[in-house]
Amino acid sequence: MAAACVAARVCETPGCNSEAKLQCPTCIKLGIPGSFFCSQDCFKGSWSEHKKLHKKNKENDEQNKGGFNPWPGFHFTGTLRPFSVTPKRQVPDTIRRPDYADHPEGVPLTERQLRGTTNIKMLDDEEKEGMAVACRLGREVLDEAAKAVEVGVTTDEIDLIAHEACIDRECYPSPLNYYGFPKSCCTSVNEVICHGIPDLRPLQDGDIMNIDITVCHGGYHGDLNETFFVGEVDEKSKKLVKTTHECLQHAIEEVKPGVRYREIGNVIQKHAQAHGYSVVRSYCGHGIHQLFHTAPSVPHYAKNKAVGVMKPGHCFTIEPMISEGTWRDEMWPDNWTAVTQDGRRSAQFEHTLLVTETGCDVLTRRLDKDGQPHFMDKM
Ligand code: MF3
Ligand code: CO
Ligand code: CO
Repeated sequence: MAAACVAARVCETPGCNSEAKLQCPTCIKLGIPGSFFCSQDCFKGSWSEHKKLHKKNKENDEQNKGGFNPWPGFHFTGTLRPFSVTPKRQVPDTIRRPDYADHPEGVPLTERQLRGTTNIKMLDDEEKEGMAVACRLGREVLDEAAKAVEVGVTTDEIDLIAHEACIDRECYPSPLNYYGFPKSCCTSVNEVICHGIPDLRPLQDGDIMNIDITVCHGGYHGDLNETFFVGEVDEKSKKLVKTTHECLQHAIEEVKPGVRYREIGNVIQKHAQAHGYSVVRSYCGHGIHQLFHTAPSVPHYAKNKAVGVMKPGHCFTIEPMISEGTWRDEMWPDNWTAVTQDGRRSAQFEHTLLVTETGCDVLTRRLDKDGQPHFMDKM
């Protein structure tokens, strides 16, 4: 079979169908396949066209490899670099879309109308059921994405899987076009705290990566995330991820009617600090239902001034981001990717919760494996 393929090497010069044995030396060096010519004359005659191929190849290479800096002069805090982002994916019209999906800048107008209000919505039975369904579907989407996590897989491929898993379940992927966010989920690697944009970077052995999924089904949003291990992760990173998950679990145990939202941060920071970690302050948990982000705001750090007291029927997320070094964050010039200011690693876990008469329902809980997060399989 292989032999048949080698037979006819034809000169690259358009119209010249001679047999070709000379290969362009630059193409050999760059690893571009093909590029055979019948003679030096044909090679010279084709040169001005042919050399464009070298340039194009170099550009593709640079964009798809680390080290390419699309923001000249920008100082990166760590070693992670952005890669190319593929075009925005489409969602069939048959799936119900949130208002921002079709806004030119992705502005969620219904959310904006309530900006600044601290009033927390109490869900009725129909709304509670709507949230339960959306959260269950969100969990299924995260579990599908989790299966794809492996060395060499790009975060763009993870995004594709999440996007299609949403569509299969008649869900709109809530991040898509939210304030212009270009992808269907967030993938946050190593020093990225949150809101990483899926791109063509292949996952590397030893990375930690968070996948944050939000789906919108029948008008309700369900929001959850987990941090995953890629290949063999060192003990230090395993400890960070385990402690971050414990922070979320301890916080959930506090949730019941009468508890102040500001209490959550005390529990989280106490546990993080006991293990030598810091708590990110710029991003908070949030109310969620027919709106993606609304009251209450739920800070994860201690001694915060969050407004509100938990009541049955409240629905909100807790999503602590815990860092190895500084709690301070900064943003890449893409205006989304939040990274640690010292370039050290950060981990996160998130659940959507419904306050009940006696405690809370973890609406996004895992339904198999005793509810344990995926990283525990690899501890
Ligand atoms: N899912 C994230 C959260 O937990 C929000 C992502 S918004 C996006 O709140 F636009 F970045 F996708
Ligand atoms: Co959230
Ligand atoms: Co989320």
